[in-house]
Amino acid sequence: MFDIESLVYMVRSSYRQKPYRRLLMEAHGAEVFASPSQRTDFGRTLLAQEPDHPGSEGIAVSEAITTVLESSDSRLGMGGFGNHVLLHQTVIGLETRLQLEQIDREPNYLIASCGCGSNLGGLIIPWLPERLSGGRVRFVAAESTACPSLTLGEYKYDPSDASGLGPLARTFTLGHDFVPPAIGAGGLRYHGVAPLIGLLKAEGLLQVSAYTPAEIAHAGRLFLQLHGLVPAPETAHAIRAVIDATRETSEDARPAIIVMCFSGDGLLDLDSYDVGVPEDVDSRTSSLAGKY
Ligand SMILES: Cc1ncc(COP(=O)(O)O)c(C=O)c1O
Repeated sequence: MFDIESLVYMVRSSYRQKPYRRLLMEAHGAEVFASPSQRTDFGRTLLAQEPDHPGSEGIAVSEAITTVLESSDSRLGMGGFGNHVLLHQTVIGLETRLQLEQIDREPNYLIASCGCGSNLGGLIIPWLPERLSGGRVRFVAAESTACPSLTLGEYKYDPSDASGLGPLARTFTLGHDFVPPAIGAGGLRYHGVAPLIGLLKAEGLLQVSAYTPAEIAHAGRLFLQLHGLVPAPETAHAIRAVIDATRETSEDARPAIIVMCFSGDGLLDLDSYDVGVPEDVDSRTSSLAGKY
């Protein structure tokens, strides 16, 4: 047994949309607050300006940093933004490499959803030496059009949290005070990406696609119908990028080896499937169902 008290600042829009995630954390013994909260000066200031503030990952990090600074025996559990988190996640890519070696295959594509970039970095970094020495494997990041840090962000130094208390990092960012809309894929709502992911993009080593909630709901449903697993909305971004990669390679004589990181289960996120799927999204992708 660990004798640790956990205090969680959960982005207000996710706190509302994902009550089962909150209940799960509480069942583990955590105390969960909707952020911005009344517990910190920064939270109170934002709520005074906008009582129904949806929050952002950057604001929740600011509140967590403030709380840790106020108490000498508190520690901050860093999310996916830290380069060291990517290092821990390389267990994903290292295991994938071993599995591919066992079946004598080399990947043409390595694809993952990208919020901060920890599951993406964890998958692709073990292949970086090959890529830097001219290897053909393509690294693909799938992000949300609602928070397009890699597609529309700027490569610059920016604070890692909304109030500017946290360390500066050089990476692709939409600005540390950016507040994205309350999409179901809450894990893709961070204003920037981990510095290592930013560097890969800046060096031209990372391909990026951004998808709308309707596109990813369709991709997630297709995966469920084919495999019987409900992907998390974040994961459905990667699935949608797999569909695009399939389309890119459909002219090739040899089938491509496309590897995707299934970053999470979506049973607690079924609300993100409750969006309309426009006709054109359905017809563009349904013809591909037999290909993967
Ligand atoms: C299921 C899932 N996939 C992906 C992500 C994106 O995070 P990262 O880009 O750091 O892997 C999240 C973040 O919460 C998540 O919950």
